[in-house]
Amino acid sequence: MIAKPEGEAGGCVLTMDQMARIHAASFTVPRPWAAAEFADLMSMRGVFCEATSQGFVVGRLIAGEAELLTLAVDPAARRRGMGRALLAKFLSHLGESDRAFLEVAAGNAPARALYRASGWAESGLRRGYYRHPDRQSEDAVIMTWAFSRT
Ligand SMILES: CC(C)(COP(=O)(O)OP(=O)(O)OC[C@H]1O[C@@H](n2cnc3c(N)ncnc32)[C@H](O)[C@@H]1OP(=O)(O)O)[C@@H](O)C(=O)NCCC(=O)NCCS
Repeated sequence: MIAKPEGEAGGCVLTMDQMARIHAASFTVPRPWAAAEFADLMSMRGVFCEATSQGFVVGRLIAGEAELLTLAVDPAARRRGMGRALLAKFLSHLGESDRAFLEVAAGNAPARALYRASGWAESGLRRGYYRHPDRQSEDAVIMTWAFSRT
């Protein structure tokens, strides 16, 4: 599969291997997902992906409720607006009455800042939701998005 020019999100232009590589460079918690796991995920009902050559977002939209399953930008391409653009692409899949939610690690300041700057609201907390490799736990913050708030 051929990637589109950098910065131009549109459909899932990355291979599962490329997605797994960017994911591995972006996450320890939740643990990185393997290419085969991305392939399984992409075959599930309601799942969609938007990508550039250096980042992607995967979401699932079923019955008016969308979940942002993962979002990652290659470390070499961060702070250039790609995360914000991918988030906008994710939201472009929603209809006006749809709602969206996501989970983000409480200590993930860059992601929380991005979501807040993009109009998402913090709406809940799952205590001890993530488990780090050293067995420490971390809370998950639930964030929601709705057209009615924008
Ligand atoms: C979170 C992530 C997707 C952001 O991608 P990005 O392309 O660097 O984000 P953008 O350049 O579009 O940033 C948009 C806004 O988000 C906020 N932001 C992004 N990175 C930030 C950082 N390191 N520190 C503080 N704010 C940050 C800022 O408000 C920024 O706007 P500004 O650059 O005008 O100040 C990227 O850091 C990443 O892949 N992280 C690892 C994976 C991850 O945490 N995914 C989300 C899990 S739920």
